[in-house]
Amino acid sequence: MTNNKIILKEQDIAKNFLNINYYLKEKLGKMPEPPLHPATNQPLDPKDLEPLFAKQLIEQELSLEEKIEIPEEIRKMYAMYRPTPLVRALRLEKALETPAKIYFKNEGATLSGSHKVNTAIAQAYYNKSEGVQGLTTETGAGQWGSALSMACNFFGLDCLVYMVRISFKQKPYRKTIMKVFGADILASPSETTKAGKKFLEQDPDTNGSLGMAISEAIEIAASKEKIKYSLGSVLNHVLLHQTVIGEEAKKQLQVAGDYPDKVIGCCGGGSNFAGIAFSFLADKLKGEKSEIEFIGVEPENCPTMCDGEYKYDFGDTARQTPLLKMETLGSDFVPPADHAGGLRYHGIAPILAFLHQNQLIQARKYKQTDVFEAALTFAKTEGIIVAPESSHAVKAAIDEAIKCRENNEAKVILFNLSGHGLLDLRGYEDYLAGKLDNN
Ligand SMILES: Cc1ncc(COP(=O)(O)O)c(C=O)c1O
Repeated sequence: MTNNKIILKEQDIAKNFLNINYYLKEKLGKMPEPPLHPATNQPLDPKDLEPLFAKQLIEQELSLEEKIEIPEEIRKMYAMYRPTPLVRALRLEKALETPAKIYFKNEGATLSGSHKVNTAIAQAYYNKSEGVQGLTTETGAGQWGSALSMACNFFGLDCLVYMVRISFKQKPYRKTIMKVFGADILASPSETTKAGKKFLEQDPDTNGSLGMAISEAIEIAASKEKIKYSLGSVLNHVLLHQTVIGEEAKKQLQVAGDYPDKVIGCCGGGSNFAGIAFSFLADKLKGEKSEIEFIGVEPENCPTMCDGEYKYDFGDTARQTPLLKMETLGSDFVPPADHAGGLRYHGIAPILAFLHQNQLIQARKYKQTDVFEAALTFAKTEGIIVAPESSHAVKAAIDEAIKCRENNEAKVILFNLSGHGLLDLRGYEDYLAGKLDNN
C-alpha cells in the first residue's frame, strides 16, 4: 500500500520556530527593508510598537536568530491538534491522470479549522505572560477571529473582533464560534471608533475591508493600557509561528521518501504560504535544493503580489500603522465581495514581497469561479470541502499536476490546505446555483 497519510507523533511537533530572516541575512546576504515610523520616515524604534504588541513578540519581529524556542506551554496546546496529517491525494492524482505526486498538509484538521490557530495560541500566550488583559483584532472570513477567540479563551484574555462587514453578513456561523468562546464581535466599519465613523461617513454602504477593520482594532488597543492588538498575518512574528507547519511537512515527506519540487500556498497576508514554504526555502537558501519552486496564489480581484506596487505603505486604511515595504494595491483599496474573505487584503507580508521581488517565489492569480471549480474536483475526489481561500492553492496544485501530465514529469507537488470550508457553504451554494461572478 502507498502511504495515503502520514501522521507523526506529538513529540515530533517542532521545538523551534524557524526564522527565515536569519537565512536571508546569512545566506542571501540581503533582507527586507525595515518598517518606518510614519512621522519621521526613519526605521522604527522597537519601543514605538510597545503600546500595541507584547515585548516578546516585538523581539521576534526583529530577531535574526536562526531558531526561536517554542515554550512548553505553547507546545502542549499545539499537541491538542498537532501534528496535522500530511496526505497524498491519490484519488485526485488518478482523476487527473497525472504522473505527479500531490501531497497536502491538512491545516483544516486543527481545532478552529485553519492554520490561524498556530499563531493565535502563541500570541495569546506571550501577551498573557506579560500581564495583558485583552486583545483586539480584525477578521475577514472569520477564521482568524475564531482562532484568536479560542486562544484568548484558553488563556483567560478578553477578545474584541472587528469583522469585515461583508463577511459579517456572509459567514454568520463564524460569529457563533467567536461567541461560544466569549469574544465580542462588531461589524466593521462600526460606530465604536473614530476611524470607523469616518469610513461610514465616506461610504455608508461600504463592504468594509481588512484595512478598515485593522484601523478600528488598533485604535481601541492604542487607547487602553492593558489591551493589546493582535494581527493574524503579514508581520514577521506571525509568519514565524506558522513555520511549525513546514517543519512537520518536511519530516512527513522524509517518512514518505519524497522532497517537494513545487510548494504552493494561497496568499492573503502571506502567513500560511510562509508556514508551508519557509522550511524548504531555508534549504534552497543554504544551497541544498536549488530547483524547488514556490508558488503563492491570489484572487484575481485582490492580486497584491501579481499586480501591486513594491513600496512603503500603511497596513491599515486609516494610516495608523508603521510603514511597511510591501507589494500593495494601496491602503484604501476595497476589494470586491469575493467569498475568499481571508485573501482580500491590500498588501502582502514584507518578507514575501521581498522574496517575490528577488525571484525566490512566484505569484499567480485566479478567478473566483475557477477556484470553486477546482474545489469541487478536490471535494469529489478527496472528500474535503476546502475553504475558499485554500481552493486557490488547490487550483494551482491541479494546474501543476496537469502540466506534469502534459510533460510526462513525475514531480512532487506539496500544497497547504489552509482551512476547511464547512462554514463557507454559502460560496459553494452560489457557485452551484451559477450565481457567482468574478467582479
Ligand atoms: C483558510 C484561510 N486560508 C488562508 C488565509 C489567508 O491568510 P494568510 O495569507 O495569512 O495565510 C486565510 C485568512 O483568513 C484563511 O482563513
